Amino acid sequence: MAPQLRYVLLSPSPMAQARPHLLRRAVAWPATTCTLPTPKGLHRTINPLRSVACSSDVTNPPRRKGSMADVPKDLMDCITDLEKLFTVDKQRINELCDEFVKEFEKGLTEEGSSIPQLPTWVLGFPNGEEKGTYLALDMGGTNLRVCEITLMGHGKFDILQSKYRMDPSVKTSTAEELFGYIADCLKQFVHDHHEGVVKEELHLGFTFSYPCDQHAIDHGILQRWTKGFDVKGVEGVDVVPLFEAALKEKGVPIKLTALINDTTGALIASNYAHPDTKMGVIFGTGCNAAYMEVAENIPKVAKHNLPPDTPMAINCEWGAAFSDRPDVLPRTKYDVIIDKESPRPGQQAFEKMIAGLYLGEVFRLALLDLHQQGHIFLGQSVAKLQTSYTIDTEILSLIELDPFENLRETIDVLETKLGIQCNEQEAKLVRRLAELIGTRSARLSACGVAAIAKKAGLTKCKVGADGSVFNLYPHFKARGAEALRDIFGDAGDDIDIVHAEDGSGVGAALIAALTLERVKAAGLSRECMLRKGVSHAAVS
Ligand code: BGC
Repeated sequence: MAPQLRYVLLSPSPMAQARPHLLRRAVAWPATTCTLPTPKGLHRTINPLRSVACSSDVTNPPRRKGSMADVPKDLMDCITDLEKLFTVDKQRINELCDEFVKEFEKGLTEEGSSIPQLPTWVLGFPNGEEKGTYLALDMGGTNLRVCEITLMGHGKFDILQSKYRMDPSVKTSTAEELFGYIADCLKQFVHDHHEGVVKEELHLGFTFSYPCDQHAIDHGILQRWTKGFDVKGVEGVDVVPLFEAALKEKGVPIKLTALINDTTGALIASNYAHPDTKMGVIFGTGCNAAYMEVAENIPKVAKHNLPPDTPMAINCEWGAAFSDRPDVLPRTKYDVIIDKESPRPGQQAFEKMIAGLYLGEVFRLALLDLHQQGHIFLGQSVAKLQTSYTIDTEILSLIELDPFENLRETIDVLETKLGIQCNEQEAKLVRRLAELIGTRSARLSACGVAAIAKKAGLTKCKVGADGSVFNLYPHFKARGAEALRDIFGDAGDDIDIVHAEDGSGVGAALIAALTLERVKAAGLSRECMLRKGVSHAAVS
């Protein structure tokens, strides 16, 4: 049974009142976020305040080994080898979790670790009463989203948003091209929704979901590109001046107030709606997590003399975990190839094993290897299988969802998407491989969540999770929940991973609001407060 979703709709904004069909369509929309296109490309989003999963799928992953009686010995041996390669058993997941905790702790010190643990200068949770209108800009991998968000207090909000397609070539362009394109989109948004004029008090939160060193909330030096991006002239550089120069050149009258990561956004937006949310995680094209520390536990910010109990959101950047420690995080030969052939070899080892960008590629490499060793698809042309990144994670999802004992859908998917004819026995191997890759991803992801819970002493909380793998990959939640029980026993169920609120939109707006409140409370001008790197001044 599919999880059931319960929606609490906001009272309609003036715009929706003028167009009641927008609300009617929103009620019928079966997604967790209802984004409704209008003729002008304008979107109205209804806040699904709470999604409640009722399906047993969320707690117990299915065991779908099926009958393997007709599978010949050679293929069975292949399956056994794949099981050995990809299984993260209870003992290993516990060992890995403990190593994670150590790395999280080291990452907070000057000494550093493979997990960067980046202070974000988001200094506390919202109180749920934040109000006002803010802009949010979300630079995702495929789209650019500009939102105007009205925070209405009581954990409620209203969004007006437009999406702009990002051409894949932008991913490998130059700083000028990337930020010029972003500025063009913002200009278009201002033109469409404000007739080109922005009131001075409209502040922008920019969700830039790549590892950035931040000395203040409105700046960030990009450590390295991830998720296949390779834009020249940005690594090692503060991205905010690049962005602002592009805005100036294009005459876009907007000021950046906060630069945030999508995980920090998910943490803050989910906590706004559900105050028992203590972690924000993204399991999508990339993967990562954020949680709240206190200053006294972060030796690397000691020089700022913050009061010891000052809360500080930490952007873990756990995708980088154990990149230099194959002994702790054993990789298969397929993971090693993916790393070598990526634009940034030697980086993001954990992410390359579990994130959506890579799952199809792990699958492709394993199938190709078995074909080349003469085990499957004998005598066939496997041209598509020979091309990198031809298999999307969606194909693994379809295979895992195949409801038929004779695996008819799996056989069809292989034929239509890859031009491969496969028999029922080969299909059994193919399905088992998809299960193994999907299960490894879910268990390793949950291991990261468990390690943050251990590190931060969280025994009962919600974790706001977002991203295509979390939202769409079959059994991901149930497999993660099982891994949490492998680590914490029954208490694992108290770490409840639920769908996050819109972190990159609402979270960015909230963080802009919280920042401006601090500026006001300190009686400082915005420029003095932020740009001079004294963003912490208002907390003392
Ligand atoms: C980035 C993180 C981001 C994550 C999810 C990773 O590749 O390094 O900053 O949070 O993807 O989008």
